[in-house]
Amino acid sequence: MTTAIANMDIKEMLARYERQRPNLIPILQAVQEELGYLSENAIDAVADHLHLSANDVYGVATFYTQFRFTEPGKHMIKVCRGTACHVQGSGLIVEELARKLNVEPGGTTDDLQFSLERVACYGSCALAPVVVIDDKVHDRMSPKKTLEVIEDCE
Ligand code: FES
Repeated sequence: MTTAIANMDIKEMLARYERQRPNLIPILQAVQEELGYLSENAIDAVADHLHLSANDVYGVATFYTQFRFTEPGKHMIKVCRGTACHVQGSGLIVEELARKLNVEPGGTTDDLQFSLERVACYGSCALAPVVVIDDKVHDRMSPKKTLEVIEDCE
């Protein structure tokens, strides 16, 4: 999505919300749903719409873990960091992915192909370790199996 289109979409979206501070979180959620993250331009537009400063908007948004501030990759890799998955080696999976893709957890590869995140218990502990790639749950994963799935995405 080009910046021009993104800006236009954000303006249209903001027009649906009254200029009231209680609308801040619903607006941020809608923006993230549309863009995949909260860009600097989007934060500025939201602040302008609600007559707040960009710092105020950042201050609220950074309080919630649901918001991202960098553009997500085409593919999202989430490795469970819950206890069962940790015991079964999810840390090794993260290390291998970070090494192979050259990206830190919480980051996105330079080519915007992959984002890597560590997430709380996914609720499938019996299937540990769990890796979720593009919303598909992969159970009993190993570093090698995870890299094979990743290669199929490329
Ligand atoms: S600890 Fe990973 S799914 Fe529960």
